[in-house]
Amino acid sequence: MTWTTPSPSDSSSGFKFFRQLNTVEDLSWVASKTFITPGLAERFFQSDRLGDKLVRILALEKVLPVKEILESCEFFERIRKDLRSESVIDLCCGHGLVGLLFAIFERGTKQVVLIDSIESPSHRLLLKQVALIAPWIQDKVQFRKGTIDSFEPSAAAPSSIVSSHACGLLTDQCLETAIAIKGNVAVMPCCYPKSKGQASKALQFALGHELALDIDRTYRLEQSNYSVRWTSIPNPITPMNRVLVGRSQS
Ligand SMILES: C[S@@+](CC[C@H](N)C(=O)[O-])C[C@H]1O[C@@H](n2cnc3c(N)ncnc32)[C@H](O)[C@@H]1O
Repeated sequence: MTWTTPSPSDSSSGFKFFRQLNTVEDLSWVASKTFITPGLAERFFQSDRLGDKLVRILALEKVLPVKEILESCEFFERIRKDLRSESVIDLCCGHGLVGLLFAIFERGTKQVVLIDSIESPSHRLLLKQVALIAPWIQDKVQFRKGTIDSFEPSAAAPSSIVSSHACGLLTDQCLETAIAIKGNVAVMPCCYPKSKGQASKALQFALGHELALDIDRTYRLEQSNYSVRWTSIPNPITPMNRVLVGRSQS
C-alpha cells in the first residue's frame, strides 16, 4: 500500500487575496526580499480594489519587501473568517501587517493589538502609509513593545490570536496564549526546532520533525477543545507556508 504525506507545499488553491496572480506564469518575484517597486505594483496590482491600492501605496515609500506583503495578505485571506472578532492580537508581529489587515478589512474588528519585543523600523512607516488609504485604522491599532510572556492574557479576552512566522517555540507560546484565553487562533510556523520539540519520535522519524511538530500542535489544540483546520499559502512565496487554524469550542 502507498499513501501520500500531506505536504506543506500543497497550495493547489493558489492565490486567494490576489487572485490575479493565478494567471501569471513567472512567479519567481513573489519571494523577493527587496522592496516592492512602483513599477511592479502598477503592473500586477492595478485595480481599484483596496488590496491593490494597499500594494501601490506601500510601493511608493519602500515600506516592505514583496514577499512580506504577499505572505501577510495570503495568510490573512485564509484565516479571516475563523478569526473574525472585536479584538485581534498579532503576537510577534514584526512589521504588523497581518494585524493591520484585520483593522483594514474587518469592519467588526474594533481593536488590533500588535505585540513584539522590538519595534520594527518598518512598522511606523507601514502605519502611516496604510492610513492614507484606510484612515479608519487609526483608532483601532495599537503597538505594544513586549514579549509574549509579559502579555496579560486575561486582559485580552475575548480576542483572537494571530501569528505569522513566530520562530520555533514562539509559535507554541502563541498557541498557549490562545488556549489560556479560549480565543480562536491562527499560526504559520517557521524555524522548527529539531531538538526541543515534544513531538513523537516515531512521527519525527517517519514524517520529518516539521510535520511531526505541527501534528503535535494540532493534538494539543484538539485536547484543549479546539477544532483545527490546516491550510497553506502559495509555496512560491515561501516554503514555510503551512497554516494551522484553531477555533475554540469552549
Ligand atoms: C520572523 S519574525 C516574524 C515577524 C512577522 N510576524 C512576520 O510575519 O513578518 C519574528 C518576530 O518575533 C519577535 N520576537 C522574538 N521573540 C519574541 C518574544 N519573546 N515575544 C514577542 N516577540 C518576539 C521578533 O522581534 C520578530 O519581530
